[in-house]
Amino acid sequence: MAFVRTSRVFLRPHVLSLARSVRSCGSSERKAGVIVGVYNDGTENTFTDAADHINEQSSGNLVRLMQYGGSLKAGKSRVLYGVSDEFPVVSVVGLGEQNQNYDPIEERDESKEAIRTAVAAGYRSLGDLGLKSIQVDPCGDGEAAAEGALLAAFKYQDLKSKKKESPAVTCLSQNDQGWTRGATFAEGQNIARRLMETPANILTPTNFAQEAVNCLEGLGVEVMPRTYEWAKERNMNSFLSVTRGSGEPPVFLELSYRGKRFTDEKPLAIVGKGVTFDTGGISLKPSANMDKMRADMGGAACTVGSIFIAAALGLPINIKGFIPLCENMPGSIATKPGDVVVASNGKSIQIDNTDAEGRLILADALHYASQHSPRAMVNMATLTGAMAVSLGSGATGVFCNSKAVWDAMHKAGTVTGDRVWKMPLWKHYSSQVTDCWLADVNNQGKHKPAGGSCTAASFLKEFVSCDHWMHMDIAGVMENKDEVSYLGKGMSGRPTRTVATFAELIASGQTGL
Ligand code: BES
Ligand code: ZN
Ligand code: ZN
Repeated sequence: MAFVRTSRVFLRPHVLSLARSVRSCGSSERKAGVIVGVYNDGTENTFTDAADHINEQSSGNLVRLMQYGGSLKAGKSRVLYGVSDEFPVVSVVGLGEQNQNYDPIEERDESKEAIRTAVAAGYRSLGDLGLKSIQVDPCGDGEAAAEGALLAAFKYQDLKSKKKESPAVTCLSQNDQGWTRGATFAEGQNIARRLMETPANILTPTNFAQEAVNCLEGLGVEVMPRTYEWAKERNMNSFLSVTRGSGEPPVFLELSYRGKRFTDEKPLAIVGKGVTFDTGGISLKPSANMDKMRADMGGAACTVGSIFIAAALGLPINIKGFIPLCENMPGSIATKPGDVVVASNGKSIQIDNTDAEGRLILADALHYASQHSPRAMVNMATLTGAMAVSLGSGATGVFCNSKAVWDAMHKAGTVTGDRVWKMPLWKHYSSQVTDCWLADVNNQGKHKPAGGSCTAASFLKEFVSCDHWMHMDIAGVMENKDEVSYLGKGMSGRPTRTVATFAELIASGQTGL
């Protein structure tokens, strides 16, 4: 398998796509717009410093024009024209109450979330005006403002012959360090969104590997694509059982980021499910919405996105990424219900449902990752429809054998607003997969569909030998309709920013991991 290291195969390097469209929107007649924040306690509007500055610069025009509309609710925007020569188009956005912070019921930093939401609303309000550029008020937290603007700016249009031009988005205050960080976090999540959205005929396992090369190698991350033969030599028969029905060769990607280059510090391992299309195999899925299964590599995409962020920030930590990639198709030599395979850790698996393929590819990946003695191990997988039933898109459901990992990931979610919710990893569920007629473990819970997410997690546990492990079932957060307003409609790239923040917390030495 040949991998081009400098140029693209089918897709253009995504990292540059936003920047390129920004640079190419050249007409000098097109105007600049600005987004500024305003707090509101229910009765009174209070300007941020930037809004104050524009008001003074326009001899009080901002206050005058705002009066016509009354108070501005949180998350809403109001576009004002002709404020001044310097600021002809201003979108004023509602930040809600001033001095918000961590809310223990919502389990997130409400100030950051209000800024992301408001700035995104501002970006959308200016979206169709054909502006050349948009400057954004950092609203006291440039990181959150950049995330709101750049996550809202994401559009998947790689396959459109006519692409809409996007305005350049910059921070109103120069050299805002928070803004630069937030832009990196948003870019990592947008990488994951783009990979998830890409159709499966284009993003095959081989092309996913090429995309990982394009995204990561420039940042010094080593990308090692392993072949079928490599996996066969390691007895990864559980992984390979899934790929039998497909003509596309599987790839096992191994990523290495060495932020602690000169030490042999143990790595953080991130494992991502990379099913580039899930038909269900012989246990074929119904055809309605099957197209969404192009995003069944969401775990893999978020792994690439979060390692991108870690490398771009230069986090002082070693990270290894492990991504089994394949298609789940019903070909003539596909795995059949009732087949038994022996995984690389020696455990035999009865495959009663070929649509429960994510756990099969992860079994070998988790065993392989465990062999690297990671300081902590996290896996992300669009694993069960049951997860979407239980939590919807509110949070990623997480299953964990370590309080330290839970504490750190929970904290990360409060910062990013992309939250996690703890689910049980009890023996109660283990016995429902280990009580198996033909083999050591069944790939489907005995009392299906009851507790489907919990039995799936228990299955994975059988292949983990690491005391600090977390399984993140991201099926429920895979796609955004309108629930998270700053993301817009489409594949979400969640929880890329949370996992990157988790890595940063570990690197900072605050977690005991
Ligand atoms: N990829 C699916 C899970 C999924 C469903 C992700 C909807 C995102 C949205 C997974 O491979 C699957 O099909 N799981 C089965 C397991 C069952 C057969 C035990 C499921 O959830 O139905
Ligand atoms: Zn499936
Ligand atoms: Zn799947």
